[in-house]
Amino acid sequence: MYKHKYHIMPPKGWLNDPNGSCYYKGLYHIFFQYSKDDVNGGLKTWGHYTSKNLVDFEFKGEAVFPDSEWDKDGAYSGTAFIDAGTLELFYTGNVKHPGNYDYINEGRGHNVLFLQSEDGMHFNNKTCLLTNADYPDNMSCHVRDPKIFYENGLYYMLLGARTRDSKAAFLLYESADRKKWTLNKSLILDNDFGYMWECPDFFELNGHKVLSFCPQGLESSLDRFANVYQSGYIMKDLNKLDIVNRNCDELKSEIKLEDFVEWDLGFDFYAPQTFKGEDGNIYLIGWAGVPDAPYGNAPSIAEGWQHSMTLVRRLSFKNNKIYQEPVIGDIQDKFEEIKVTKLENNESLVKTNLYANIEIEADKDLSVEFNKDLKISYNSEAKELLMEYFNDTGDGRDKRKAKLDSLENLSIFMDGCILEVYANSGEVVMTTRYYPLKKEIDIKIINEKNVCARAYKEN
Ligand code: FRU
Repeated sequence: MYKHKYHIMPPKGWLNDPNGSCYYKGLYHIFFQYSKDDVNGGLKTWGHYTSKNLVDFEFKGEAVFPDSEWDKDGAYSGTAFIDAGTLELFYTGNVKHPGNYDYINEGRGHNVLFLQSEDGMHFNNKTCLLTNADYPDNMSCHVRDPKIFYENGLYYMLLGARTRDSKAAFLLYESADRKKWTLNKSLILDNDFGYMWECPDFFELNGHKVLSFCPQGLESSLDRFANVYQSGYIMKDLNKLDIVNRNCDELKSEIKLEDFVEWDLGFDFYAPQTFKGEDGNIYLIGWAGVPDAPYGNAPSIAEGWQHSMTLVRRLSFKNNKIYQEPVIGDIQDKFEEIKVTKLENNESLVKTNLYANIEIEADKDLSVEFNKDLKISYNSEAKELLMEYFNDTGDGRDKRKAKLDSLENLSIFMDGCILEVYANSGEVVMTTRYYPLKKEIDIKIINEKNVCARAYKEN
């Protein structure tokens, strides 16, 4: 009942981070962390989807396997790099050494592995580029998730890391040929930035540098960092966040917790990756899940699968912020408009199925309720957008909050058991897994200026 119609999900088993996202030889490729035989996530391969338009995706099976001594316990996350018509993948090979280890400082190998392809479907020439022995001595075993970029004649690899004394760090390597890598810098953050950074990303948007990463160990509150782990970015002028040329002290004065903006303020979002589209725009896709979050009773498990990706989001720079607009292309053709019934007291009612798209214009306080399960509301006095479940299940999944100065519109995408809310065309985004108990959804909207509701055409 909860399977998705227009979001990426695993055909069966478990999915986490997007990997190797890119546009290559006329197709978009989204790989992902995949455990096809274990709905709770076991040994990781890379599953593979392709798409022509970032809206319709085709499953292509598995592309990367943990079939070497360097990745025998998992083909972990990584990114793609395209050069001279060849698609290259750089990822973390996970190795667990037999024995009784603590797995933080001992007992685990995190290697940087390389693969290449001429058609985007078959990958070969698996090579190990870096091992733990190459990382600085003060790093724990946890050094992973390479991101490759090019600048002024050299290639760079950014890795997320944890030091032996549990501080978050990133390592930057450089290379002339993407085979032989030497350390450019090892930047260790102060403790308020947690104990580990996963899935770093680095890109340029409208004359700014953006450093995106997933810190673990931040102090949480309802106002900030409410999930188990976070995912966000720091954006600065080009020269300020010049991670290649500036020294560690200079960079540390730019990389401050107060400048860290969370990508998505809902319950379920992590490990996003950006990639450049055919049209030159930067796109982002994230895992609609968080590691170590309490998903043990997720109802999709009974259907043999767990987790999914967000919609692809086009990034743009507006009002000194990054906006994330969902890429929907001609997705509207797959929906049909449905009736909005006007009730008393400025209320409207929409009766729909589990797959709906609701577009709301607003100019003051607003509330949108789904079957007495979930409420999204805007409070103009507090300047807050809230996402809250009526039934507090006691596992921290009761309420999430986003600061928002004013609300003009909300786009809501519901698809089986995922719900994404885009406020003001992507100024703020909130994603949640939402498992309605029945297929019929009554959406009550209070105080809107205008509503257009669509339901996915069942075929
Ligand atoms: C993030 C992460 C990555 C790792 C991968 C393993 O969710 O922990 O750091 O490479 O997942 O599946």
